[in-house]
Amino acid sequence: MVELCPSILSADFAHLADQVAAAERGGGTVIHVDVMDGHFVPNITIGPPVVKSLRKFTKLPLDCHLMISNPNDYIGAFAEAGADWVSVHYEACTHLHRSLEMIIHHGMKAGVVVNPATRVDLLIEILPMVHHVLVMSVNPGFGGQEFISFSLDKIRRLAQIRRELGLAFRIEVDGGVAHDTVAQVVKAGAELLVAGNAVFGAGKPEQDARELLEAARRADGER
Ligand code: DX5
Ligand code: ZN
Repeated sequence: MVELCPSILSADFAHLADQVAAAERGGGTVIHVDVMDGHFVPNITIGPPVVKSLRKFTKLPLDCHLMISNPNDYIGAFAEAGADWVSVHYEACTHLHRSLEMIIHHGMKAGVVVNPATRVDLLIEILPMVHHVLVMSVNPGFGGQEFISFSLDKIRRLAQIRRELGLAFRIEVDGGVAHDTVAQVVKAGAELLVAGNAVFGAGKPEQDARELLEAARRADGER
């Protein structure tokens, strides 16, 4: 089943609660929270205090995408703030297995993220531990970038590996997911669709979330 994960990166932060509520009314079922440190990626965003505030406000899972250089140092803080899912970058973790264990140990769902240039085959050994694999379809750091089309091959490959290994992790895609790309992404096998600009960019998140999800569901029905 496809789910829409509105990314608050493109929301109006001065009205965050209202923006999240609107995206939820439009059919968003997971709230994607982009955490950037200005080091692993060339941008700075938000951290545990915002997660803590959102936690009081929504029952939806908070999907924290850590684009930070030393994620192990912050996993506890995200757990305490009320994060449900935490994903770490393959490229940021010297000891990825340990990072995933830490997330699980803190009672959260663990995810692993790969940048566009990273092969999904590198994840095979740790796939049994993860709840989701996040395929970046742009270079992380900013919203509103153009979808990198070879990401579709990576999603297909991941779905194939999952079948071959008999695993159940979910496939999430992040970056450039919009009206013109969503059908291809769903047909390639992605189930968790992160969308920032396409949901919040035009200032009508409820309607835009609904339309994007409808397009995703149509594509899912045609698979
Ligand atoms: C990018 C972030 C994304 C971002 C996607 O580094 O990880 O979650 O919000 O933005 P759009 O959907 O605008 O490409
Ligand atoms: Zn993200």
